[in-house]
Amino acid sequence: MVVETDQTQEMLYAIRNQFPILNQMVGKHPLVYFDNAATTQKPETVIQSLDDYYRNYNANIHRGAHYLADKGTTAYESSRKKIQQFISAETPEQVIFTKGTTEGINLIASGLAKSYLKAGDEILITGMEHHANIVPWQMACEQSGAVLKVIPVLDNGELDLEAAEKLMSEKTKVFSMVYISNALGTINPAKELIAKAANLGAITVLDCAQAVGHFVINVQDLGTDFAVFSGHKMFGPTGIGILYGKKARLEALPPYQGGGEMIKEVTFEKTTYNELPFRFEAGTPNIADGIGLGFAVDFIQSLDRQTIEAHEHELLKLATDIISQTPGLRIIGQAANKASVVSFVSDKAHPSDIGTLLDQYGIAVRTGHHCCQPLMSRFGVPGTVRVSLSFYNTKEELEIFARHLNKVMSMLA
Ligand code: ALA
Repeated sequence: MVVETDQTQEMLYAIRNQFPILNQMVGKHPLVYFDNAATTQKPETVIQSLDDYYRNYNANIHRGAHYLADKGTTAYESSRKKIQQFISAETPEQVIFTKGTTEGINLIASGLAKSYLKAGDEILITGMEHHANIVPWQMACEQSGAVLKVIPVLDNGELDLEAAEKLMSEKTKVFSMVYISNALGTINPAKELIAKAANLGAITVLDCAQAVGHFVINVQDLGTDFAVFSGHKMFGPTGIGILYGKKARLEALPPYQGGGEMIKEVTFEKTTYNELPFRFEAGTPNIADGIGLGFAVDFIQSLDRQTIEAHEHELLKLATDIISQTPGLRIIGQAANKASVVSFVSDKAHPSDIGTLLDQYGIAVRTGHHCCQPLMSRFGVPGTVRVSLSFYNTKEELEIFARHLNKVMSMLA
């Protein structure tokens, strides 16, 4: 076990103190927020950036010839540049603002269904995908006649890599995978699998929704054609996300939505489309949240990554020990390489009963299928209780959790 020095502890408390929401009571109990895989909390700087935009320079961007419009456009486009640098994208044009991960995958899947996929082609995903990385591909299969193939998940929550090897072939035209499972916490060997699929000629898509909140994503190093993520899982606002694509791949995709901003010229006979990134950003964008996401990037960049990653690892170990030492509980997902997410079930109680009782003590966890019904079926459970931790969580919070989990489980016995 890594012993955190007083100095490290102080640094971690100083980071936590930047999140005003965490310092509150739920009834008689201090809030213990363990639902970070659903959404992360927001630091003061992100909250202030939203207030500042609406209070001081709200205007529509890219269009106006006045001071406020210019200020808004500069802030929005500077946010795009921050995100480009943050994920090591080649150019800012390859960073497209979306509503979030779900919209990003839908944009790619619907574009590929129209322009690239044919009957008999194969789309390969994994057995631990979120519904957002299943349903858009099923829709693409319906439109194009392509077939969906799935890499199975092993009992320990890791991907069956031997099966993956066999499932990948020249027929694999798209390979879309999750980097970190939201339900199990498994960190998948994304770079290796992407390289294998790309060698066979597949277009690759990486769902980084959970990963961006835990470690730095380098899209060029990962080698992926597309990557998607949501702002709200990386300490930024809801309703904003990013689609990254290699330039040639983005240019080959047809536009997703038509309207203002995404055009060069419109006549009733014919429309020509705008350059990247605007051809995928029809209509007035989510300006405030796009700017806020840039502030979230600044916040993340200000952190000492080594320290916070070590702290999250420590929290994961503690949470795993607490849950595995509680009689009658079983952890689902014991991969060797995991992010700070622990999912568990009880042989005595339904996950939602456990979650509801924990909530009585101010402890916020998510229960249910976590938008991963096929994965839950794979493990033969209706759902799990999920504890998902971030670097602002503390060992003291896990002690509170341990005490109340024991109490809750004896109430349900
Ligand atoms: N996908 C989010 C979760 O895992 C909402 O909770």
